[in-house]
Amino acid sequence: MKNDLLAGFQQRLAARKAVIGIIGLGYVGLPLVKAFCDGGLKAVGFDVDARKVRQLMAGRSYIRHIPAGVIADLVKRRAFTATTDPARMRGCDALIICVPTPLTANREPDMQFVAGTADEIAKFLRPGQLVVLESTTYPGTTREVVLPRLVRSGLKPGRDFLLAYSPEREDPGRKDFQTTDIPKVVGGLDEASGRAACDLYRIAIKTVVPVQNCEVAEASKILENCYRCINIAMINEMKMIFDRMGIDVWQVIAAAKTKPFGFHPFYPGPGLGGHCIPIDPFYLSWKARQYDTTARFIELAGELNVAMPYYVIGKVAEALNTKRLAIRGSRILVLGLAYKKDVDDLRESPSIILIEQLRNRGAVVDYNDPFIPATHRQRQHDLGMKSVPLTAANLRRYDLVLISTDHSVYDYPFIVRHARLIVDSRNAAAKVKTGRRKIFLA
Ligand SMILES: NC(=O)c1ccc[n+]([C@@H]2O[C@H](COP(=O)([O-])OP(=O)(O)OC[C@H]3O[C@@H](n4cnc5c(N)ncnc54)[C@H](O)[C@@H]3O)[C@@H](O)[C@H]2O)c1
Repeated sequence: MKNDLLAGFQQRLAARKAVIGIIGLGYVGLPLVKAFCDGGLKAVGFDVDARKVRQLMAGRSYIRHIPAGVIADLVKRRAFTATTDPARMRGCDALIICVPTPLTANREPDMQFVAGTADEIAKFLRPGQLVVLESTTYPGTTREVVLPRLVRSGLKPGRDFLLAYSPEREDPGRKDFQTTDIPKVVGGLDEASGRAACDLYRIAIKTVVPVQNCEVAEASKILENCYRCINIAMINEMKMIFDRMGIDVWQVIAAAKTKPFGFHPFYPGPGLGGHCIPIDPFYLSWKARQYDTTARFIELAGELNVAMPYYVIGKVAEALNTKRLAIRGSRILVLGLAYKKDVDDLRESPSIILIEQLRNRGAVVDYNDPFIPATHRQRQHDLGMKSVPLTAANLRRYDLVLISTDHSVYDYPFIVRHARLIVDSRNAAAKVKTGRRKIFLA
């Protein structure tokens, strides 16, 4: 029976008759739609945000690195359609879940989106379907959160439907790797599910990496993100130690990375941002507590990274001090609102904390970001700001310019020429020669 289920799924894939449902059309879901359509399958995209669905169906894109023309073409040739109607899940052969996995206000996993989606799928689940969870989460989620909800449909895993986990490794803004080039780790609830999911992804992704089960796949993603989070915290700590010693951490890294083995460079910054690195490790530390163990490295890294914007503010105070100025009353321009360079995503961006904290201390703060013309309300922040143009006259108006995000389009010699004082948290202006001491590394 199990094999019939797998064989039926494989036949529809081989005949390119399978329709792929992608649930959650954000930074992860939308590139995946393109990858499957490029592989010759039809995709139906589901989102609860009717505005996004309307934009896509009108051939527009809200993600900078997915051009509108690509969406318009997919919609025109009927390879892709977007909808808010979950009943259309019934018509799909595979359903891939790409919904958010944030933290609650108490910094615990917020499973409402994954659980809600699984409940929705259960209403329309039919025999023969494969469900894959892609959202980043703690090991055990597919089996403990998704499976019990799907079972409420009355259908049985292995007999009626297949279930797997495959982590998303998308790195928005990256030019050297597309969705299709990044090897895809896949783990099934059972062997048939794993094989079905591997076959599905082979249509869209060049390299598929089967692993023992969904728990190994879930844990591998968390390991990758903990590795980054902990190493970034370590280099941020090094930065603060070396700064006290009068040593430039950037020069230290440049020297250390000449070692041809055993050293991978990580770079300091004003704090951690984005939807993944500041959040995902806490999914594991939360889960670890259920097993009477603690993820000490994660907790320590979190502590260090969360403190970084405050260190940068200390540097702002130090820089203003050289001009006999206080933060209170100073005009400060923050360059870059996005959480990293060349993207338009401001989720968890340290720039937001910097702006809020500088305002709390009485500064008059503006920002410039070529990719974020205005701020929108977020769950915990509402800056209500608009990007100011980066002109010579504007730069001169501020007591201090704080480089928070090192977008490649910024003309750093121009910024250095016209700014009165600069605090550079990214080493972006380092190569610009300036006679007077006006750049402070933070
Ligand atoms: N952004 C990245 O670079 C990245 C990389 C790797 C992994 N991830 C993980 O992928 C997952 C999705 O992240 P993202 O960045 O694409 O998020 P996103 O916020 O850009 O997109 C999620 C989409 O899901 C929609 N949604 C929410 N609930 C829904 C529901 N019940 N049904 C249908 N749609 C729903 C939202 O409206 C939104 O459009 C998260 O778990 C994240 O950790 C993200």
